[in-house]
Amino acid sequence: MKLRAETGLTFDDVLLVPKHSDVTSRSAVDTSTELMPGIRLAIPIISANMDTVTEAPMAIAMAQAGGIGILHRFMSVEEQAAQVRQVKRSESFIVEHPHTISPRALVGEARQRMRQEGIGGLVVTTEDNRLLGIITTRDVLLAPDDALPVEVAMTPRERLLVATQDERWESARQILYENRIEKLPLVDAQDRVVGLITSRDIIKLHDHPQATKDAKGRLRVGVAVGAHPEDVERAAACIQEGADLLVLDVAHGHADHALEMIQRLKREFPGIPLIGGNVATPEGVRDMHAAGADAVKVGVGAGSICITRIITGFGVPQLSAVLECAREGQRLGVPIIADGGIRTSGDITKALAAGASTVMLGNLLAGTDESPGVAVVRQGRRYKIVRGMASLTANMARKRVGLDEELSPNDWEQVVPEGVEAMVPYRGKVADILYQLVGGLRSGLSYAGAHTIPELWERAEFIRITPAGQRESAPHDVNVM
Ligand code: XMP
Repeated sequence: MKLRAETGLTFDDVLLVPKHSDVTSRSAVDTSTELMPGIRLAIPIISANMDTVTEAPMAIAMAQAGGIGILHRFMSVEEQAAQVRQVKRSESFIVEHPHTISPRALVGEARQRMRQEGIGGLVVTTEDNRLLGIITTRDVLLAPDDALPVEVAMTPRERLLVATQDERWESARQILYENRIEKLPLVDAQDRVVGLITSRDIIKLHDHPQATKDAKGRLRVGVAVGAHPEDVERAAACIQEGADLLVLDVAHGHADHALEMIQRLKREFPGIPLIGGNVATPEGVRDMHAAGADAVKVGVGAGSICITRIITGFGVPQLSAVLECAREGQRLGVPIIADGGIRTSGDITKALAAGASTVMLGNLLAGTDESPGVAVVRQGRRYKIVRGMASLTANMARKRVGLDEELSPNDWEQVVPEGVEAMVPYRGKVADILYQLVGGLRSGLSYAGAHTIPELWERAEFIRITPAGQRESAPHDVNVM
């Protein structure tokens, strides 16, 4: 047995000491960061891989704002892969596999397909994918009869402008503008359809100038996988759909089965960046790095819905964990993600100042429109449900996957939860929450006299505070309205 003499600290135990600053305005600071080698984010925020936080709508909103979302893994492989597809198709300069329709299909069918898929047009092709025309919402609305074949209502091939797969967005924009057209099909030498550029997608590029995108202009998304052998198939299916990175989702990641899984995933998918987690010690960071992790997620028992520390007695207060792990991470060149326990923009600044490159948020994003959590009204106020991924109901939901019969009372009794079910206030749109959080971070950087996050690492000086200091730090001696 060993007893460490120093005190473990968390966010509320410290403040950052203001420094001389030449930052004249909050907009003058740069909040961009390296999530992991090869992937930069405009804002250092990741949404948690929890089933009440990140599915496709959250991942889309996060990437549009310049962060990234990690799709949780508590769904079937097919569902998770479909969610990746949804994110990758949501916004891209080139639609790689545009929806197609046969020339003999009927106008009514085309209208239904467009409504179902939420798109404004279909490419009309032969069975071997050669371009015959395009049919748009306008065509189906103006067509005199739903029973007409598509080939009558479409704009035929000879009247279409086309481009090749290497079309660049600026020249595509020009073609669309000069010819007042909405869609530009991309074809190969045999006139087979290899993509589609739409004016809607080009306009969207301007809506989200900071968006986190891959080389093809598609939003980036990460996927969580577990450490079971079948999770290799999960990873493969998601990568096939374009997932940009994997996150090994293991509560105690500093364990042989997790480290072996990291090695396996790196062997099977050598080109795919991998985040390992979760750990709370420098030794954990070192072993994850040695196993092949490109970034490491830090946090054991810090999350708002966690009871791991109560149930098991284990954990490291989050600020100390991040400080110690980030020191090791910086020595090894491995970015650290501070995961759990963040309640304010001030906590984000503290986590980054302690050496993290990014933070992962569950609670702060769970109350938004884009989270998959259920909305409820209690005493006239709106809330959304959030639950720990090791909570009783999350455990039971997992047991139920693939089962037709009802679970017995015994199944419920056998669970030893390490998380809780809870409600968080409804918070509106993710973009608005992120705006507030990043605004606070920008201000924090200016108090440190730091123009960038790496400068914050260098300039940060923490001071420990007492309970009296904590009281002084919050509104006091007033009735807050
Ligand atoms: P916040 O505080 O942002 O934390 O809500 C989110 C993080 O909490 C972790 N998490 C859990 N930890 N039991 C735990 O001990 C659980 O049931 C649980 N569910 C989520 C996870 O790291 C997440 O990102």
